[in-house]
Amino acid sequence: MKIIVNNNIIDRDAFSVDIEDRGYQFGDGIYEVVRIYNSKFFTLDEHLNRLKRSADELKMELPVTIKNVAENARRLIEIENIDDGIIYIQVTRGTAPRVHAFPQNPNPTLIAYATPFSRPIKAQKDGVATILIDDIRWLRCDIKSINLLGNVLAKEAAREAGAFEAIQHRGHIVTEGSSTNIWMIKEGELYTHPVSNLILNGITRQVVLDIAKELGIKVIEEEYTVSDLLNADEVFLTSTTSEVMPIITIDQKKIGAGSPGQITQQLQAAFANKIALLSV
Ligand code: PDD
Repeated sequence: MKIIVNNNIIDRDAFSVDIEDRGYQFGDGIYEVVRIYNSKFFTLDEHLNRLKRSADELKMELPVTIKNVAENARRLIEIENIDDGIIYIQVTRGTAPRVHAFPQNPNPTLIAYATPFSRPIKAQKDGVATILIDDIRWLRCDIKSINLLGNVLAKEAAREAGAFEAIQHRGHIVTEGSSTNIWMIKEGELYTHPVSNLILNGITRQVVLDIAKELGIKVIEEEYTVSDLLNADEVFLTSTTSEVMPIITIDQKKIGAGSPGQITQQLQAAFANKIALLSV
């Protein structure tokens, strides 16, 4: 398997992580996951711009330009022959003696690898179960940091409950899933948490906002409560790997009729069209 390391494409076995890499010791790093459909990247530029934004927010220099990452990413998926898959891209502040403050001469390291991945068609058709959980994460959830302990604990709680995702809330306010954005529909209007420090502004979220506009669905980017969510007509989640995924239960309580809602299905169909357009 070939991987990208900074500006090179090398064998996976030729790379190792130093014990003093700051990503390894402090979680001092950022990442992106980008989808590949029909051997083409979906919203690669948007993901790379967000990678750059995360780096800027953490005062971290990227070791290569995002144009360079895009070129190497395209080469990599050709070499690896990835048709349907994902690429994982990560940048850490690099290796330095273990001191919390930034190193004087940081040596950031970018790695990326691509793996096959298929659309979760069955779950998208049937809908998924979710649980509610307190959002215990830090206050910069807008940065796509590799510090994911809060998210990891939330997803593990979901797994233990036999659910697909954990929906996090701060007090009564619904923020986002452990690795997804959360949406609800009430009386034909679409609600999602506004862009702030409390959520990751998902790239899929942005695509769905565009789709909603195209379909003439009114979008309300305002905070809503757990009670609003439980009483919604439809609820769904979005992410790079889940796309538009209907939520049919929350803590075992049925949402709407307990099956994927009509507007959710409309958004799913429009999303599938955007993917299909990649191959023309
Ligand atoms: N997760 N919120 C969180 C906390 C996330 O980790 C993600 C993405 C999203 C959705 O963002 P996007 O639509 O850009 O994928 C929202 C990625 C896929 C992951 O950690 O694997």
